[in-house]
Amino acid sequence: MQDRKVEDLKILFTQAQVSSKVKELADKINDDYGLKEELVLICVLKGSSVFCCDLSKHLKMPVQMEFIRVSSYGNNKTSSGNVQALDLTLPHLEDKNVLIVEDIIDTGCTMKFLTDILCRTHKPKSLKVVTFLNKKMARKTDIEPDYYGFEIDDKFVVGYGLDYEGYMRNLPYIGYFEN
Ligand code: IMP
Ligand code: MG
Repeated sequence: MQDRKVEDLKILFTQAQVSSKVKELADKINDDYGLKEELVLICVLKGSSVFCCDLSKHLKMPVQMEFIRVSSYGNNKTSSGNVQALDLTLPHLEDKNVLIVEDIIDTGCTMKFLTDILCRTHKPKSLKVVTFLNKKMARKTDIEPDYYGFEIDDKFVVGYGLDYEGYMRNLPYIGYFEN
C-alpha cells in the first residue's frame, strides 16, 4: 500500500487546465501535420497512457497508435539515468510520420534512448516528440521536445498517468507533495 495519501496532494494543474492544454497541443499538431498526413503515435507506457489517449481523440488526421514500454525510474523518485527497454515491438515505420508521446521529460535520458533507437533502427519519414510536462531544469541530455504542455519546476508530480510507487496514475489532475 502507498505511504502517501491523495488527500495530502497540492494541485499543480486542475482537470480543466489539463484538458484545455491537451486540446491546445492537439490543435498545434493538427495545424502542423494537416488533415491528410498519416501519423503514428508512439505511446510510452505506462506514464503516457492517459495523455496519449486523450490527445489522440482530438487529432484529425489518420492516426495509428503503437505502445512501447521502457523503465528508468523503478520505484524511486529520482531518475536512474539507466533506461531499460521492456517492450520495443514496433511495426515497419520507414515511410511514416512518427510522434513519440511522453508524460514528462525529466533528465531526458529516456527520450534520448528512444529517439536514438527509433532513428537508427526504424528510420521514420519524420520523428517528433510531444510531452505533457517538461522539467527543463532537470535535463542531463540535449533532448528538447517539439511540443510540450507545461514547463514545471524540478519537483516530483503525480496524476494524469504519472505515478507514485505505481499509484495515482488515475487522478485527472496533476499534483505534488509539498514535503
Ligand atoms: P527521464 O528519463 O529522466 O527524462 O524520465 C522520464 C520518465 O521518468 C518519465 O517518462 C516518467 O515516467 C518518470 N518521471 C520523471 N519525473 C517524474 C515525476 O515527477 N513523477 C512521476 N514520474 C516521473
Ligand atoms: Mg514516462
